[in-house]
Amino acid sequence: MTIPKSKIRLGPYLYPMPVVLIGVNINSKPNFMPLAWVSIVEHKPPTILISSSQSHYTNAGIKENNCFSVNTPSEDMIIPTDYCGLKSGKDIDKSKIFNVFYGDLKNAPMIIDAPLCLECKLLKTIDLEQGHDIFIGEIINAYSEDKYLTNGIPDLNKMNTFLFSMNDNNYWKIGEHIGRAWSIGKKYED
Ligand SMILES: Cc1cc2nc3c(=O)[nH]c(=O)nc-3n(C[C@H](O)[C@H](O)[C@H](O)COP(=O)(O)O)c2cc1C
Repeated sequence: MTIPKSKIRLGPYLYPMPVVLIGVNINSKPNFMPLAWVSIVEHKPPTILISSSQSHYTNAGIKENNCFSVNTPSEDMIIPTDYCGLKSGKDIDKSKIFNVFYGDLKNAPMIIDAPLCLECKLLKTIDLEQGHDIFIGEIINAYSEDKYLTNGIPDLNKMNTFLFSMNDNNYWKIGEHIGRAWSIGKKYED
């Protein structure tokens, strides 16, 4: 059999990716940056990790206060979201771009207009000496609004968030629902 695949240019391809806005307080002001290298680590307690370049202002904020927030933007926040990725808090003040609120941690600013906000306590920082800090955080609180929920759970259809593809640098709308997880596979027949 001829295999219809050839090796392509090596890269960290993962398609598609979410986009979140990481919020920190630094020098007593909120700062936000978009980030796509984010993953769930554990279910209980809810734990996630982010991988953020050591050159970013955000990293200093996480290390200063041992906490951060993870905010899921809606489509209508795409321009300020991308802007936060074009500019560093080292060079400009990004504290007024979004209206913020605080939860129990006091130093993890969250975005009022974001459909979903996760308040994270820093558990561990890993430095693989490759240029990025891997921050592992426990989600101590999640915040949303009724209009984004179904049965008390964030509903992707209502959140109207968007996706990202790295390497070609594009944002994408989320498409149609095509099946139920841990369910549609039951139709499989040998
Ligand atoms: C869509 C998008 C996704 C990004 N994802 C990451 C990421 O996963 N990790 C990272 O270190 N930087 C990422 N960046 C780059 C930072 O957001 C960008 O350099 C930002 O300006 C850093 O801000 P700060 O210096 O104020 O922290 C991303 C940028 C964009 C536009």
